[in-house]
Amino acid sequence: MSGSAPGRILSGMRPTGRLHLGNYVGALQNWVRLQDAGWRNFHMVADWHMLTTGYEDTTQLQQNTWDMVLDWLGAGLDPEKSVLFVQSAVKEHAELHLLFSMLVSKARLERMPTLKEQIRDLHMDEQTISYGHLGYAVLQAADILLYRPTHVPVGEDQVPHIELTREIARRFNYVYASEDAPVFPEPEAALTAFPRLRGLDGNRMSKSVGNTILLAEEPADIEKKVRMAYTDPKKMRANDPGRPEPDESDGHSGCVVWEYHRVFNPGEADAIATACKAGELGCVPDKKRLAAVMTEVLGPIRERRARWAAKPDDVRAVLHEGTRRAREVAAETMARVRDAMRLKSVVEGA
Ligand code: TRP
Repeated sequence: MSGSAPGRILSGMRPTGRLHLGNYVGALQNWVRLQDAGWRNFHMVADWHMLTTGYEDTTQLQQNTWDMVLDWLGAGLDPEKSVLFVQSAVKEHAELHLLFSMLVSKARLERMPTLKEQIRDLHMDEQTISYGHLGYAVLQAADILLYRPTHVPVGEDQVPHIELTREIARRFNYVYASEDAPVFPEPEAALTAFPRLRGLDGNRMSKSVGNTILLAEEPADIEKKVRMAYTDPKKMRANDPGRPEPDESDGHSGCVVWEYHRVFNPGEADAIATACKAGELGCVPDKKRLAAVMTEVLGPIRERRARWAAKPDDVRAVLHEGTRRAREVAAETMARVRDAMRLKSVVEGA
């Protein structure tokens, strides 16, 4: 998509609290890049989505929203350029979700790989999945299509949801709109060069596993965490030759430190791999170097975040204004939807 003319993007995240580097490298960094290249960005706190897997305990929702939005601002989302808003404040998401829910079969949703993963990861019984949870991806389709974006910059894990979104757009247009005047575009997923960053232990990065580095992590903690990162287990001594890349012959999944070098330190990554393979670079100095580079890269983010955190009224104003602008677009889309579906109420038409 780097070659395409700037269009409009919509993306969101569930408010899980402070973000980690996986969130940043997989999606947020791309949002900022697109914003700075002149795209029109809409970014949403998907607080209703949070209820699909945890509706009982809503005590952390506000704090988590706050922490996440601070990370967005810290990462460089600029409210002068990007619209930042909260899903639950724009009621059109619920209306469009209801209308879309007729266009998708239950079987299609039960086949969603993301739902299957959640059932497995959360040790859920398939029989107890709620109606709302089953419809997770339908709500996401409504989130996206309300803003009629050309692209949806997300992490790799979200691709099945973008596929469903495209199906729903196509179905809606086919059923309710004429071919030459579709109501919805079929937005494309926009992935980053590194759509997935593994956790420090080499497994999927996840807060609950505790293998993350936070986006706004303190330098001392960055160093401490990088020290624990997974490297080539066969490289016991500093001058043993190491294997940055995976080696299937003994299940070595690749050195996490090198993976992070490629993302945060691309200029040196090749030389580091060469030195490691030649037995000329030990893991201890290698990790020290990575921690230093990451501290340098993340420092400005941490500082910008702190400046916003010191002005909570300004942050509230950003969300207020963003929500106002989101509502404008959402209202326009819903007018077209109701029109296409002949849902203009008799009362309005009177
Ligand atoms: N499902 C997304 C996630 O877990 C969050 C999300 C909700 C989203 N609505 C969206 C992402 C719309 C992109 C567009 O990360």
